[in-house]
Order: sequence, then C-alpha cells, then structure tokens
Amino acid sequence: MRSIAIMNQKGGVGKTTTTVNLAAALAEAGKTVCVIDMDPQSHATLHFGVEELPNEEFKSLYDVLVEGTPIAEVRRRIDDKISLIPAHLDLTSAEMQLVGTVAREQILKNKLLEDKPDYDYLLIDCPPALGVLTINALTAVDEVFIPLEPHFLALQGLGKLLLTIEVVVKQLNKQLRLGGVVLCKYEGGTKLAGEVADEVETYLQNIAGKNNTWSKAKLFKTRVRKNIALAEAPSHGVPILQYAPTSNGADDYRSLAQEVLNETGV
Ligand SMILES: Nc1ncnc2c1ncn2[C@@H]1O[C@H](COP(=O)(O)OP(=O)(O)OP(=O)(O)O)[C@@H](O)[C@H]1O
Ligand SMILES: [Mg+2]
Repeated sequence: MRSIAIMNQKGGVGKTTTTVNLAAALAEAGKTVCVIDMDPQSHATLHFGVEELPNEEFKSLYDVLVEGTPIAEVRRRIDDKISLIPAHLDLTSAEMQLVGTVAREQILKNKLLEDKPDYDYLLIDCPPALGVLTINALTAVDEVFIPLEPHFLALQGLGKLLLTIEVVVKQLNKQLRLGGVVLCKYEGGTKLAGEVADEVETYLQNIAGKNNTWSKAKLFKTRVRKNIALAEAPSHGVPILQYAPTSNGADDYRSLAQEVLNETGV
C-alpha cells in the first residue's frame, strides 16, 4: 500500500480537489483507494456526496481520534473501489480535546496499524493548518504530495512547508518522503505560471537526492489546469470523472494518476 498525505498549510490551493479526483482516477485505473478526510471543513466528505442525515449517528474521524472507535466502524464505501473515512465539523474540537493526550501525534498511525488495511492507496486530505490533525496525517503516511498554486510567493511557501516536513521526519516519522509537488489551477497562457513552474522544478531538482526525505522530490509533469468543471463537481457530490468525464479537469487528474502509477508499479 502507498500512503500519501495531500498537504499545504495555505488554503484553497487544490488539496481537496486533488485528493478526491486523484482517488477517483486511481480507482478508474483499477486500484482500490481509501480516502481520509482530515479537515473539519469536511469538503472531501461532501465532494463524495456523503452528508449527515437527520437522526443519523454520523460516525467520523473524530470518533476514531478522540473516542478510540475502530476505523472499520467509521469507514464508508463510496463504490466498489473507493472507501472514505469521513470528517465532521466536530473535528475542530479534536485538537483541543487531544491536548494532554500521550503521543497525540501518533493516534491516526496507531489506529491504521490496528486496522490492517487492504487497499492499494491511502490518501489523506489535510486541513490548511499545521496543527495536530496535519501532524497526525504526516506521522501516519510514507509520502507527502504538495498541491501548489502558481503565484509569485509560491516558492517561499514551499520552503516553509519543506521545513515542516523536515521537523516531522526528525521527530516523528523517519519514513516520510516528499513524493512530489503538483501545480494546480494552472493558467497555461500566463507568463507567471510558466516562470513559477520553472522555479519550482529547479528548486526541487537542487534538493532531490540530498537526503532520503527528498530522494523522490520532483514536480509532477501534469499541470492541473484551471477548469470550471472542477469547481462545479463538489456540489454534485461526485468526482470530476463522473461529473464531466471528458473535461480538461478529468484529463488532468487521469494524467496525474498515471504518473503516480508509473512511479512504482503499485
Ligand atoms: N484546477 C481547478 N480549476 C478550477 N477550480 C479549482 C481547481 N482546483 C480547485 N478549484 C476550486 O478552488 C477552490 C479551492 O480548492 P480546494 O478546495 O481543492 O482547495 P484546498 O486546498 O483543499 O482548500 P482548503 O485549504 O480550504 O482545504 C474550490 O472551490 C475548488 O473547487
Ligand atoms: Mg480542502
């Protein structure tokens, strides 16, 4: 199993869009995928069409992290290839409730170890913050993917992110690798987008191989273009591959999935 956290502390860069649609594209290619929604905003949960119904006991990641509920009791099937550990707004309070809990950065990791998962890919959609939720995600996975929006401070933001990853590697998870950076909301016609892409690529080439953490560092070749269908799909509760299967957005996430699949053969 490959386990990947989709992380960037900056908001609105394409984390959730990438998590949900990469999951769907990997599933279309025949892989089984489990998505964990680590964000109290529950956007990935909603994007998969999962909503809390009146009178329903909505079990979510909160129960796993705070109440110790087994992951199997919370996991839902989206279709025959994709399953989801949903989030709920109550996850906001998890952070506070976990203060003082021993090894609170490792709760998710330990719950996943208990679960003995049998899927090919585990994707975690992180919130736009560096609190205990994101740290739990980074401690539980082997790889991080960073969605980046091409703007002129992108490189500075990336540098800060990599420092965070370094701290997690030193203190909590020696296995963790930067899997790659993916440019999202890409406007091919603009000079800025091309310049940022070149800068990020050079930066990653320079650090690649410096040590294990950066051994796989690269910019994915796929550029996820700005595409209105990607912004519309969440309100229909399905990934882009179902909502607009022939759109640029669907093509781009299929192409990203292919790059990911080609890396290891998993
Ligand atoms: N390639 C794209 N083209 C057009 N719209 C996009 C694209 N990618 C994402 N969006 C839209 O941009 C907004 C932010 O994207 P998304 O929710 O994926 O970002 P995020 O990093 O998960 O945000 P947050 O930090 O709040 O969790 C959403 O409305 C989404 O539909
Ligand atoms: Mg999000």
